[in-house]
Amino acid sequence: MTSATREEIDQRVAELLQQMTLEEKIGQLALIQGAGGHVSHDVAESVRSGRIGAVLNEVDPGTNRELQRIAREESRLGIPLLIGRDVIHGFKTVFPIPLGQAATWHPELVEHGAHVSAIEATATGVNWTFAPMLDIGRDPRWGRVAECLGEDPHLASVLGAAMVHGFQGENLAEPGRIAACAKHFAGYGASESGRDYNTTNIPEGELRNVHLPPFRAALNAGAATVMTSFSDLNGVPATANALLLRTILREEWGFDGFVVSDWDSVRQLAVHGLTADDRDSAYEAASAGCDMEMASTTYAEHLASLVHEGRITPAHVDAMTANVLRVKFRLGLFDATDEEVTLPEALNVEHLRAAYEAAAESVVLLKNSDALLPLNPAALRSVAVIGPLADDAHEQLGTWIFDGDTGATRTILPSIRLAVGPECTVHHARALETSRSRNHDGFAEAVAAAEQSEVAILVLGEESILSGEAHCRADIGLPGAQDALIDAIAATGTPIVLIVMAGRALALESVVDKVQAILYAWHPGTMGGPAIADLLMGVVSPSGRLPVTMPRVLGQIPIYHAHKNTGKPVTPASFTYIDHIQPRAHQVSVGNTSFHLDVDPSPLYPFGYGLTYSTVVYDTITVSASTVPMDGTVTIAAEVVNTGAREVSEVAQLYLRDLVGSVTRPVRELKGFTKVRLLPGERRTVHFVLSADDLAFVGRDGQRRAEPGHFHAWIGGDANATLRTEFSLVASATSLH
Ligand code: NOJ
Repeated sequence: MTSATREEIDQRVAELLQQMTLEEKIGQLALIQGAGGHVSHDVAESVRSGRIGAVLNEVDPGTNRELQRIAREESRLGIPLLIGRDVIHGFKTVFPIPLGQAATWHPELVEHGAHVSAIEATATGVNWTFAPMLDIGRDPRWGRVAECLGEDPHLASVLGAAMVHGFQGENLAEPGRIAACAKHFAGYGASESGRDYNTTNIPEGELRNVHLPPFRAALNAGAATVMTSFSDLNGVPATANALLLRTILREEWGFDGFVVSDWDSVRQLAVHGLTADDRDSAYEAASAGCDMEMASTTYAEHLASLVHEGRITPAHVDAMTANVLRVKFRLGLFDATDEEVTLPEALNVEHLRAAYEAAAESVVLLKNSDALLPLNPAALRSVAVIGPLADDAHEQLGTWIFDGDTGATRTILPSIRLAVGPECTVHHARALETSRSRNHDGFAEAVAAAEQSEVAILVLGEESILSGEAHCRADIGLPGAQDALIDAIAATGTPIVLIVMAGRALALESVVDKVQAILYAWHPGTMGGPAIADLLMGVVSPSGRLPVTMPRVLGQIPIYHAHKNTGKPVTPASFTYIDHIQPRAHQVSVGNTSFHLDVDPSPLYPFGYGLTYSTVVYDTITVSASTVPMDGTVTIAAEVVNTGAREVSEVAQLYLRDLVGSVTRPVRELKGFTKVRLLPGERRTVHFVLSADDLAFVGRDGQRRAEPGHFHAWIGGDANATLRTEFSLVASATSLH
């Protein structure tokens, strides 16, 4: 399958445009909901007459074949359809939620998962997914953090690009590939108070330094389409935001795919109060650079008359249409042959294996007192498996699993049974009907199960409906009576392994001391059960790392590793806890530094954190030069040693601090990471090569560039890494020393 060049495609687009009427062009800008498993008269007529260019949420293969046949054979110009679907973390085979995939810190694994999803989706005729979601997730109240790739621009950039490659490959026209959609452009993650669809106010420098890099990386990886965000950005909703859609996306980045609105977000411009009516909304969105309208129909209703009135030029509509057609050509839709291509079946052994590996690498071991884990199945004679999420085929799949096959789900309970074998008695108690239940009726059975067991495995957290779009929480503790359940089980004295399934980082300070071990499993997908059982039994060693900072309590939010220093940073000596303040203390007696009186200022667990069943030590950090010219590179290296007795996969992370900037810089920024396998006793050197571009940021003058000055660099296993070196970046070439 050869890919057409940009020139060849532009030529074909231009020829097609010449033959199209204004109505047919506007038709290419319409994305409407399918009828759901059949070709309705209305949809067929719209396709036939060229009034629809794209359909979403139709996954019946026969229906999609028929829709494409009508488009190709019965519409005047035979323009095929885009068929879009939210293929977010798998199709039939469900992978961990994106936040869980981010916890793998393993781009190849993430890429492979997206490829598997694309293969399964294309079998239904879907040729376009609304993924990856690249919003920066720094507020776990926001339900959509489940869909994002974490809090960090670098991690999200690398993994987002990997997803794009996985969906699209090198050539979109290849069988088993689908067009990706980088969403939601942009700033959605900053929705105030973590409430979905809420307003965002983001200074342009912050927007460019924090929120936009993952989009840039996804487009560099070839993402064919971009979706606007629902949110209002600095007073102009993203769907009508020309700074985003025209200046940045087209003029600065040279994007030549198309921009689609989010569901109804063109019509919602009036609800935001930016426009008076649908006609104005169509005008604002189209002129700002939103090419295709999802769900609402303001373009279909008003674009033609806006052109006739001269408010929108015919050339502008041509450009919008060309953007869409270019993607259709890239997908090879015009060149489809009848040749049968056999792709692997959904849910085949290899796909399940991929989902297993992703699940196994996504789980983060947060605590393991007295090396409780791994359990030894040969010696274990009794185990309690407790909790509403231990054996629930639906809940472990997470949000956005429209096509996921719950029949294929492998849950934890049977996987543990299999792992421990017949010599070990497994006492099971659901304890709570759902993760939200407040009723204690099931506690007695759970307590009895724990009392009869050597170890209690509690599978708690959030059911899938508590995260995802429009599912935000104002309290991010364990819901319902789960805290009380932990207390009841802890009172038995049986050691507890807490497995948390959740769509976000929960605030768990109140429970960490009551349990001996914690495995944070996000929503691990189809193969979560076997993956977690193997982690529990030590068949594999945990290698997941936190893609977000874990708060102790809700009030710390937002808490993220790349924060600014402030003029009065807290130090251990300057922190005063509320209980230690003397009655009638003098105003300044607690010191004037930046902290809350009622919580330790550190996170519960830092970004990048995760334990293994071995011990890993970093030493001997080196820098290739203490003075680095702007046009040069600097290599920072360290030795990483597995000092324990088990093989591990360690995620070596590079953090940097730019000490002085024309605008203040974060105390640490992630600049590189690599996952390395180490045998017991093995020592390896990890290298990170940085150029000035890696050090660049948008400064006070609005320009993105690296600024000369001094940098600190750390290599280690999380954002608290202590092994440090330093170097200076100098404006002109000087000799290295
Ligand atoms: C709304 C969501 O915000 C977006 O992420 C999704 O792709 C579309 N609906 C289509 O379902």
